[in-house]
Amino acid sequence: MQNFISAHDVPDINALVKKALEYKTHPLHDKLLGANKRIGLLFLNPSMRTRLSTQIAAQNLGMEAIVFNVGQEGWALEFEEEAIMSGSTVEHVKDAAPVMGKYFDILAIRTFPSLKNREDDYSELYIRQFIKYAGIPVVSLESATLHPLQSLTDIITIRENFNEQRRPKIVLTWAPHVKPLPQCVANSFSQWVNAWGEADFVITHPEDYELDMQFTNGATITHNQDEALKGADFVYVKNWSTFNNEYGKIYCNDPGWMLTNEKLALTNNAKVMHCLPVRRNVELSDEILDGPNSIVTQEASNRVWAAQAVLAEILRSK
Ligand code: CP
Repeated sequence: MQNFISAHDVPDINALVKKALEYKTHPLHDKLLGANKRIGLLFLNPSMRTRLSTQIAAQNLGMEAIVFNVGQEGWALEFEEEAIMSGSTVEHVKDAAPVMGKYFDILAIRTFPSLKNREDDYSELYIRQFIKYAGIPVVSLESATLHPLQSLTDIITIRENFNEQRRPKIVLTWAPHVKPLPQCVANSFSQWVNAWGEADFVITHPEDYELDMQFTNGATITHNQDEALKGADFVYVKNWSTFNNEYGKIYCNDPGWMLTNEKLALTNNAKVMHCLPVRRNVELSDEILDGPNSIVTQEASNRVWAAQAVLAEILRSK
């Protein structure tokens, strides 16, 4: 694996899941694999789970991890080619990324979308420019459109919680939120579940919240949440803002879309997932988050093993 940006970078998802679960059992099995190697963790946006889990994963492999909050502490970066830098940006990525490429063996980057211009966000300019100019492997810690470490974690967690000899039914449901959020987690979850191909996958959301079909193709899509939830083994809850029509907006905030125990009763005693952070009693009710069906903490703890499997794969490919 050269870079880790989307499900398309992974030739065998099940093999990567297996590797991650092996690391969960034996965290220090490859403690010398990354000896004398360094990973730069660049954050243009906030994070808790991604930052900590990737640091721990790197350390488990013997790597040194250096966190750089570019968004707060670094020079403002320019990403457009041939930009006349007479505005607020101070340094071009084509100057900064090669330097980082000399400091580090792997570069990992978190960058959110603006939610102002769909074409710009979906061009993934920031991550593409780092890949182009850093000269070393690049790992997405969540980009403008995708969150692959989260999605790999989600597949790992589903695999851990399902032992039946049949395909699980997985439902991705939209949930209300107080502000417009990126589509990244929902896009990415859809892309990974479709690429994995081992589940019956249903996406449910209110009208006007259609996601980009390049990620959802293969799933059943319905505006009827109750219908979608019937017989579900896993319910993945996430808010996202609009993709079509007016991009990055909130059209509907119907609290009736929040998952409750009454809705959960429609499912096959489904496990409930969320990437966190979560707005309690807006996106997900206390009764669900504090109840026996929630696996959100297990899910977040699996971020370490997903990151460790990906970093190990890249180290082995170098
Ligand atoms: N799920 C997730 O990416 O969490 P953080 O934003 O805290 O990293």
